[in-house]
Amino acid sequence: MTQTPKTRGAGHVERSETGRGGSHEAWFAEGERGKTKLLIAPTRLGELYLRNRTLMAPITRTRVVPRGQDWLAPAYYAERASAGLIVSEPVPVSERASGYADSLGLFTDEHVEAWSTVTRAVHEQGGMILAQLWHAGRLSLPEYQPGGADPVAPSSLAPDGLAYGPKGPVPYGVPRTLTRSEIPFVVDEFAEAARRAKRAGFDGVEVNAGDGYLIDQFLRDGSNSRTDCYGGTIAKRSRFLIDVLDAVTPIWRGGRVGVRLSLAHERGNLRDSDPVSLAKYLSREISAFDLAYLHIVEAVDGPAYPPSQYGVARAFRNAWPGALVLNGGYDARRAEAALRADQADAISFGAPFIANPDLPERLRSSEPLDAFDRSKGQLIFSTPLHQ
Ligand SMILES: Cc1cc2nc3c(=O)[nH]c(=O)nc-3n(C[C@H](O)[C@H](O)[C@H](O)COP(=O)(O)O)c2cc1C
Repeated sequence: MTQTPKTRGAGHVERSETGRGGSHEAWFAEGERGKTKLLIAPTRLGELYLRNRTLMAPITRTRVVPRGQDWLAPAYYAERASAGLIVSEPVPVSERASGYADSLGLFTDEHVEAWSTVTRAVHEQGGMILAQLWHAGRLSLPEYQPGGADPVAPSSLAPDGLAYGPKGPVPYGVPRTLTRSEIPFVVDEFAEAARRAKRAGFDGVEVNAGDGYLIDQFLRDGSNSRTDCYGGTIAKRSRFLIDVLDAVTPIWRGGRVGVRLSLAHERGNLRDSDPVSLAKYLSREISAFDLAYLHIVEAVDGPAYPPSQYGVARAFRNAWPGALVLNGGYDARRAEAALRADQADAISFGAPFIANPDLPERLRSSEPLDAFDRSKGQLIFSTPLHQ
């Protein structure tokens, strides 16, 4: 099969640079031979009844601050309401939780009002949306913290890599260690945000325990060197997440709460010495909450990732008794194969949903996918609609 991109109208590329387009075409041919496409078949995750298994992954846009004409969030999310479920971009649970400019939190009444316009727009299109509850922890900068303070983390260990500073990329700094007595207050911020998510009309919440952010920083031994009851053994490192779920599930019931984890993903050089054991432990401990699903990020840049990293997803599938949503570099063909092989109950898509707001319909009708152009770094934080 030739890999030459064919253009069809402005910005339309039938085969993307990531190769998604080519695979999609092959999958389309199979679909045409009469197989049912599981990606567009309904399913249930806990108390959430989904019209399809094509979920929208959380995608930071740093454009969700209501500012007159720039307030595009309701239209942006409504355009993608045909997803089986939308997971909102990460929503800071407090002022200190923020890691980027212009992300809309859930810690004031104004935030509730602003998010209400988004949930209403999605519901009007028949969609469902969860608020992703988020604390960036050490993946933040003093510029985004109240009073210019250092960001907080389980331990004072700086992440590698560059942060998106207000004026461009800058190295992350050394975070301040959260004291033992501060931790219940942070847990409480998650609970407060969960309450506000309810008032804002969300259909549930996803707790972001992955992607190198605060809860992930507690979970993994590469970023947690605490010697108190929140550090050391796997059980102690997991305690912060368990505390958050203890606080959030009475507000929403487990069946409307998802948890996102990315133990295979080393963002900000965040590592764990034994992610498979951590995955097995979490599967057992978290199952007590009867959650809607676990959302596992396997890789963020596609199948080029080493196969060993997929061991974490397998560990979850074997040990986790509930529904599993997989994410990371999926094209239609791989996603359909994963559902067919019962490796997952649903698949979430990030970049494909930016480029294809009507992704489920494209999958249903086997329309070619538009490419997401990762080379335009700016798109990440200022993507116009339809890009
Ligand atoms: C523009 C963009 C912004 C993203 N922002 C976040 C984020 O803030 N938090 C997060 O957990 N994941 C974020 N992601 C990751 C996605 O949720 C997803 O894990 C990733 O894109 C891999 O899925 P994909 O291969 O289908 O794109 C982002 C992805 C993209 C493309």
